[in-house]
Amino acid sequence: MMSEGNTIRLPGLIDVHVHLRDPGQTHKEDFTTGTQAALAGGFTTIVDMPNNAEPITTIERLKQKIAIAQSKTVADIGFHYGTMGDNLESFEEAAGLAIGLKLYLNKTTGGYLLDAKHLQKIYSAWPEAKPVLLHAEEDVIDIAIESMKDLKRPIHVCHMPSKEILQKIIAAKKDGLPVTCGVCPHHLFLTKADESRLGVYGKMLPSLKSQEDQDFLWKNLDYIDIFESDHAPHTHEEKAEGAFGVPGLETTLPLLLTAYKQGRISLEQIIEKCHTNPARIFNLPVDEGTYLEIDMTEYEINNESLYTKCGWSPFAGRKVYGKVKKVVIRDRTVVTDGTVVAVPGSGKVMGG
Ligand code: NCD
Ligand code: ZN
Repeated sequence: MMSEGNTIRLPGLIDVHVHLRDPGQTHKEDFTTGTQAALAGGFTTIVDMPNNAEPITTIERLKQKIAIAQSKTVADIGFHYGTMGDNLESFEEAAGLAIGLKLYLNKTTGGYLLDAKHLQKIYSAWPEAKPVLLHAEEDVIDIAIESMKDLKRPIHVCHMPSKEILQKIIAAKKDGLPVTCGVCPHHLFLTKADESRLGVYGKMLPSLKSQEDQDFLWKNLDYIDIFESDHAPHTHEEKAEGAFGVPGLETTLPLLLTAYKQGRISLEQIIEKCHTNPARIFNLPVDEGTYLEIDMTEYEINNESLYTKCGWSPFAGRKVYGKVKKVVIRDRTVVTDGTVVAVPGSGKVMGG
């Protein structure tokens, strides 16, 4: 971290929870537009989720996804593998290619749901060195933690939204269990009260919570291991039809830097939760020659300047501090004067 005039320098950030929709739903995002959005938002490494139109639950689909990304990505990218409990024989090979294993214990986009009764056998079949990520809301968090107690396998609770779940995670951490959690910017910067203003653009899973929940997250930042955007683009038409999810790659950092300006979080905490901890928990490489230069002048988030193909943000109209001006990956400039200049195929694909 370095501060000079109105510019700050940060290490390249890591977002371990994005949905880039490629292959299968490239009308709303693809590997090029999604990774351009990542770089424009300061994220040099991202990890993509497996809930594609055809879920990534076979080695063939995982390898196909890796191959597609190789010609299209401008950032460094890795992939999480998926399971519905019937592909355990593929776990060892998949773990050699993937960053983690994602389990959906609640209904979400893609209708890809796992019965919690399969949890223990999945935890024990998946190689211990790689984390298991969980979509586990209030109704299933107990069984998610309970099922790993004897095995002590590292689990990561994704997009943790509420006081109730965080209290349970804090208790598990105090019991010495290897449980980590991530929080999304929309749960830190929006509440249920914003739903009437945002309409369909305020709908995501887990849903927006109360002010009391949000206050609890801010008071307990020390127990939050990482920030993850859950970048989940959908077209305007799909949102109107009820699709859950909001984009986030281009707004996470300015929202956090605005909170920093307001004295609600330190730059060290931002680096810890968007760089150091994700790298450690998910075994991702970092490089001294990968960094960002950010202009701390105030600006307004607007839909027109976004790289994400969906073309909207629930934070449009918000005044924030922190525009990514320059991004360098391994000494190569990939963003200059706020414009992504890296060519498709220049990013590194993990597992490829
Ligand atoms: C995500 C999506 O659209 O893929 N939607 C969401 O509301 N978060 C799915 C998910 O992250 O569970
Ligand atoms: Zn998600």
